[in-house]
Amino acid sequence: MAGVTDTVFRRFIRNLGGCGLIMTEFTSSHGVSAAVRAKKPTRTIERYLSFEPEEHPISAQLFGSDPEIMANAARVCQDLGFDILDINFGCPVNKVVKCNGGSGLLRDLPLVETLLRTVRKAIAIPFTCKFRAGWSDQELVMVEMARLAEDCGLQAIALHPRTREQGYAGKADWSRIAAAKAAVKIPVIGNGDIVTPEDAVRMVEETGCDAVMIGRTASSNPWIFQQIRRYLGDRPLHAADTLRPL
Ligand SMILES: Cc1cc2nc3c(=O)[nH]c(=O)nc-3n(C[C@H](O)[C@H](O)[C@H](O)COP(=O)(O)O)c2cc1C
Repeated sequence: MAGVTDTVFRRFIRNLGGCGLIMTEFTSSHGVSAAVRAKKPTRTIERYLSFEPEEHPISAQLFGSDPEIMANAARVCQDLGFDILDINFGCPVNKVVKCNGGSGLLRDLPLVETLLRTVRKAIAIPFTCKFRAGWSDQELVMVEMARLAEDCGLQAIALHPRTREQGYAGKADWSRIAAAKAAVKIPVIGNGDIVTPEDAVRMVEETGCDAVMIGRTASSNPWIFQQIRRYLGDRPLHAADTLRPL
């Protein structure tokens, strides 16, 4: 999460235990790919993409809308030793959307496809993307996005089912996660409004998702991951077992 999940925070979470996969703050592909031209690490890389060995497995998240720039930036992330490369199609912030990044791309699926195919060809590490359900309730694209990601050879997807127009208002409609899950075979990571271990289990049971992702609760309750792990420890085998750390 931008402004939250820097290397210090990530190590804090990792050391508390229970969290399977950690992700960087979203990072500008332009800022990263500038390092290729400069032939030395840029401030963007030092600020956003530095990590310590104990953070593995760790995913680098990029945003942007230029396929070649994104591919260059993805190669840089691979060379830095990240385990996974992720593209953000969810950020609702004006500054990002105006440049066609984040959730702005949910209105241009042909460009999303070009981005995904270009990056897939450029790197060998696992590749994922995270997106919102669509621009608005009238323009929902989570099923198309899920299928596109699968067709383009991505290893998994993460869905925050609010729309761009919704911002953070109202509730995350988990039935949209279920719809994406039903449409593809690749793992689907559900996200949105998980505050307690019970919420995490309920999301898996209601949507069939393969894992859950936690955002805001991590900053108010960084123990949430180990709380989920402990909660699952006492439970008999069932769908919630997929919540065990990857
Ligand atoms: C301050 C803040 C920064 C965020 N930064 C990112 C980000 O960099 N990348 C990303 O994929 N999502 C980002 N998000 C969205 C969250 O990851 C998550 O999708 C959203 O908050 C819903 O999940 P939650 O209810 O678990 O928080 C951010 C959210 C907040 C509030």
